[in-house]
Amino acid sequence: MSSPPAPAQDVAATTALDAITSRRSIRAFRPDPVSRDTIETLLRLAGTAPSGSNIQPWSVHVVQGDKRRELSGLLLQAHHAGVEPTPEYQYYPKVWRPVFLERRRQTGWLLYESLGIRRGDREAAHAYRGSNYDFFGAPAGLIVTIGRDMEHGSWIDVGAFVQTFMIAARTFGLHTCAQAAFANYGDLVRAALGIPGSEVVVCGISIGHADLAHPANRTRTPRAEIGAFTTFHWSEA
Ligand SMILES: Cc1cc2nc3c(=O)[nH]c(=O)nc-3n(C[C@H](O)[C@H](O)[C@H](O)COP(=O)(O)O)c2cc1C
Repeated sequence: MSSPPAPAQDVAATTALDAITSRRSIRAFRPDPVSRDTIETLLRLAGTAPSGSNIQPWSVHVVQGDKRRELSGLLLQAHHAGVEPTPEYQYYPKVWRPVFLERRRQTGWLLYESLGIRRGDREAAHAYRGSNYDFFGAPAGLIVTIGRDMEHGSWIDVGAFVQTFMIAARTFGLHTCAQAAFANYGDLVRAALGIPGSEVVVCGISIGHADLAHPANRTRTPRAEIGAFTTFHWSEA
C-alpha cells in the first residue's frame, strides 16, 4: 500500500482502514456529551485486544461530570502552582538518540506553531500543557492503570488495549487523545479516584467530539517510511 488516503475526520469510520487512518490525537473537543452506553461498548471492544496468555492486565477508571471536573481541578491546580511532576514511570530514554529527539522536537513545534506559541516561550507552552489535565475539553476521559507488580510484557498488552479503544472510537465518530500527562501526578489521580497504591497510572485518554476548527487540531504528524524501521529477510518463491 502506498500512502494511506486522508479519510474524513468528522464522520464515523465505516472501515478498519478509515478508522486507523482517521485516528489522530485531538487536543480540542466540543462539550457535546458521550453516552455511558457508547463508552461501555468501546471498553468491550478494547477488551478484545490481545494480551499475553489472555491475562488482560489493564484497569480503567472512566471519569465524566462531577468526578471529571474534580480530577481536572486538582491536577490543574497542581500544574499552575508549579508542583513538580513525579512521573509514575520513565517514559523516554534518559539519553536521547538524535533521530528520536528530532522527531519529538518536530512534533512539539508543529503543535505550538499552529497554536501561535513561539519557540522558547516556556510560559505559554507550560500554560498550554495544562489543557491536558482538562482532557482538552472532552466531556469524558479514561484513566488507564496497571498493577505495579506487572512486567514489560503486560505493558505491551495495555498499549494494544489503548490503541484498540482509540481506533474503535472512530467508528462512533468520536476522537481521542492518549495522555501520559496524567502519569505526572499519579498520587493526585489515585487520591481523587480511590485507586490503590498497587496500581500505576499508565495514561489518560480524552474522548469526545472533535472541535475540528480549533488550531490545536490543525496539525498532522508525519511518519517515517517503513524502510526507516524495517529490515526484510525475504525470499521470493
Ligand atoms: C501512550 C501515549 C501517551 C501520550 N501522551 C500525550 C500527552 O500527555 N499529551 C499529548 O498532548 N499527547 C500525548 N500523546 C499523543 C502523541 O503526541 C501523538 O500520538 C503523536 O504525536 C502522534 O500523533 P497522532 O496521534 O496525531 O498520530 C500520547 C500518545 C501516546 C501513544
